[in-house]
Amino acid sequence: MKIYDLDTPALLIDLDVMERNLGRMGSYAREHRLRLRPHTKTHKTPALGEMQLRSGAVGLTVAKVSEAEVMLESETPDLLVAYPVFGNAKMARLVNVAKRTNLTVSVDSVDVARPISEAAMAAGIRISVLAEVDAGLLRVGVQPELFVPLLQELDQLPGIELRGMAFYPGHIKDQDAEALSALSRLIGGLIAEARTAGFALPVVSGGSTPTMWSSHLVQGMNEIRPGTYIFNDRNTVISGACTMADCAVTILTTVVSTSVPGRYVIDGGSKTFSSDRAAAEGFGVMLDAPGALFEKMNEEHGYVKHEGHSRKVGEMVRVLPNHVCAAVNLHPKIFGIRGEQVISAWDVAGRGKLQ
Ligand SMILES: Cc1ncc(COP(=O)(O)O)c(C=O)c1O
Repeated sequence: MKIYDLDTPALLIDLDVMERNLGRMGSYAREHRLRLRPHTKTHKTPALGEMQLRSGAVGLTVAKVSEAEVMLESETPDLLVAYPVFGNAKMARLVNVAKRTNLTVSVDSVDVARPISEAAMAAGIRISVLAEVDAGLLRVGVQPELFVPLLQELDQLPGIELRGMAFYPGHIKDQDAEALSALSRLIGGLIAEARTAGFALPVVSGGSTPTMWSSHLVQGMNEIRPGTYIFNDRNTVISGACTMADCAVTILTTVVSTSVPGRYVIDGGSKTFSSDRAAAEGFGVMLDAPGALFEKMNEEHGYVKHEGHSRKVGEMVRVLPNHVCAAVNLHPKIFGIRGEQVISAWDVAGRGKLQ
């Protein structure tokens, strides 16, 4: 089947580019002796998790317990839930996951850690935890001055095993050497403080796609969790961490209306691309139409402004999305392509897994 035989909108992954991205990251991690634990939020697909494991990953990362359940299918030896898991309904499911693979959860408070400790005790197992510190994103993670006190509190809880530190440098969106060196000083300093307080921290888990090629410059970090790198997207290009040629994802759409002069409408809007913006204008890059601007969306309509090069109704156009992770979550299938040939189709088994 050729890509233009697919029904639209459809999410396409160029397998040659994806394999190159996987290989490059595997080599980088090996070269710098970093443990690679990709965040599967980007593809949400066990078969692609398996490919990451085959290309050098030691384990996988998810955000939700329900995503962890899905990702078990990849037979990962090791799984990190990089999210404060809270709620009675989740504990039994978390314990079941922990019985099937080596499970670690990142936590930033005793409020989150205690129920995990109690559930592990009741099940007669131990669950590993990483103490999360806020490295500047101001999202989750204790403030740095409270990191050692958090280690001390976690150390008191039975049923859990404190394995180290987690952080996510999501505030660094480009190749800002100063921001990276501040991050390195922060993490190096916290590791030293922890050591003085008697904590060895065998795992120091961080990393992101914008900072992926500078990971080795962060003092003491020995594990990285890039997610977007498998496909890359417009935001990754803008961050300077990849080029357009490294983007494996495109969304295939059909022109469905040309009724308004100076504009055409494609059959994908926020339900297809997500509403995520980039640090540049527009909701994606119109790949086959240089100069055209994807300027506006409703749920099912994408408004494309053009400068004289209109399209005909029925023509198919490919778009590079701003944020691939959010777009994948909206699609039932990922189509793997080589050139114009459709090679594979995977169900996005982890889409919509909110709990
Ligand atoms: C905790 C955590 N780790 C890793 C990642 C992966 O980040 P990226 O997609 O920039 O590689 C994310 C992304 O949101 C995250 O929230």
